[in-house]
Amino acid sequence: MNILMVCLGNICRSPLAEGVLQHKAAAAGLDWQVDSAGTNGYHVGEAPHKLSQKVAKMNGIDICNQKARRFSASDFKNYDKIYAMADEVIDEMKWIAGDKYDASKVDLLMNELHPGKNEDIPDPWYGTEPGYHKTYEMIDQATDALIEKYNKNIR
Ligand code: 4NP
Repeated sequence: MNILMVCLGNICRSPLAEGVLQHKAAAAGLDWQVDSAGTNGYHVGEAPHKLSQKVAKMNGIDICNQKARRFSASDFKNYDKIYAMADEVIDEMKWIAGDKYDASKVDLLMNELHPGKNEDIPDPWYGTEPGYHKTYEMIDQATDALIEKYNKNIR
């Protein structure tokens, strides 16, 4: 299964989501390809934000080699499932993808933890370190739920 995590800049939230899910999928023996992208393209080519790198490292996950890239319409061809970190990200994905947008592949990541609640993972970009810990915690819980759901479905 190919999974894409998407936020606005691809430097704060989605790199963490990529690193955390990759780590958990590998530990669970799942052959998943996990990547991330951002809708605004302002940080293309950059490594994740220092505080995202720090929080990941504190949890035993190394994301320092990731490079930001922009989300594109062709991602709908290349991925089975696309998780947005927030509702405004879905709006941007619709605008970028146009008639290639495929709603059946898209969900908010937090809906894996709290189905149907449509919760956003708040953008930590304008804030301080505690915001990045909060981001990690939400991603950690949502990705646990995702792995658990998948394991249940194949058992
Ligand atoms: P992210 O945070 O979407 O979690 O990567 C942001 C990073 C940068 C910007 C916006 C959000 N920006 O506008 O530069």
